[in-house]
Amino acid sequence: MESVERDSNITYTIRFRDEACSKAEPGQFVMIWVPSENECPMSLSEIGALAAITVRPVGRGTEKLCKKKAGETIWVRGPYGRGFATKGYSNLLVGGGTGIAPLMPLAEKLVESGRRVTLILAGQTADTIPLLPRARRLEKQGVELIYVTEDGSLGFKGVATDPLSNILKESRFDQIYTCGPEEMIKKIYYIAKANKIPIQASLERYIKCSISLCGSCAIGRYLVCRDGPVFDEKQLKDFESIWGKPALKPGLIKGFPTELPFRKIHKGA
Ligand SMILES: Cc1cc2nc3c(=O)[nH]c(=O)nc-3n(C[C@H](O)[C@H](O)[C@H](O)COP(=O)(O)OP(=O)(O)OC[C@H]3O[C@@H](n4cnc5c(N)ncnc54)[C@H](O)[C@@H]3O)c2cc1C
Ligand code: FES
Repeated sequence: MESVERDSNITYTIRFRDEACSKAEPGQFVMIWVPSENECPMSLSEIGALAAITVRPVGRGTEKLCKKKAGETIWVRGPYGRGFATKGYSNLLVGGGTGIAPLMPLAEKLVESGRRVTLILAGQTADTIPLLPRARRLEKQGVELIYVTEDGSLGFKGVATDPLSNILKESRFDQIYTCGPEEMIKKIYYIAKANKIPIQASLERYIKCSISLCGSCAIGRYLVCRDGPVFDEKQLKDFESIWGKPALKPGLIKGFPTELPFRKIHKGA
């Protein structure tokens, strides 16, 4: 691991060097094994010579992960799943909380390919929005940033979906990309549908094996680890009747993760 840095009041960004991750698509995820605790699926928040994950400590695995120091070892599998497909010229990205993480490399990719990008960053308060300095660098590259906070400490006061109707009235978008809490994604899906704008959304389910063996990430007829985590509007239509319903009981297969093909990552690897 190269570095661990606190990037908001509630998130840490962990950078590491890994060849496979340097070729990942924005939106793909990795499995990070925290010995004796958990194996945690994490979106890649940075893709390149250095890869990164941006972690919110919510339980024992993620808490232990965030306490790691540069030079220590982490175990990584992946990248897995389907990432975001870059389409159209004018793009609207909507991220809530740690859902902002996978949208950062996507925004960078879209800007580098000469597309127009508007990025909505939403959180409870200004100091809980991850990766703000990186967002400000994107702004200098021409990305339009729109902040939304529940307490009004930065940008619009409200939730991510509040400024959407106005934004969609003012500009035409070819594609919406979103990641964040499921309730937010659900609302954005219906707004995109009403405005006839194609949408891609990254969904979270309980990912255990990540290689389509255990079924714990099932959502309808799809597996999030194989068919997602990014789904397009045709697939999202299938979820209209099952939004918010829990997936299968996790832990169908015992013995993971020690039997899986981890790469040990340490400083300078
Ligand atoms: C595709 C995907 C991408 C993700 N990307 C990020 C990210 O970029 N940053 C981030 O902070 N979090 C991300 N998460 C959520 C993260 O994986 C969980 O917060 C983490 O696994 C919790 O582990 P824990 O041991 O700390 O918590 P636990 O105490 O085990 O559980 C705390 C909470 O996390 C959920 N959780 C636990 N294990 C898993 C698992 N294997 N799969 C999914 N949810 C789990 C539990 O349902 C519970 O609500 C992502 C999840 C998925 C499915
Ligand atoms: S986590 Fe998707 S099938 Fe096991």
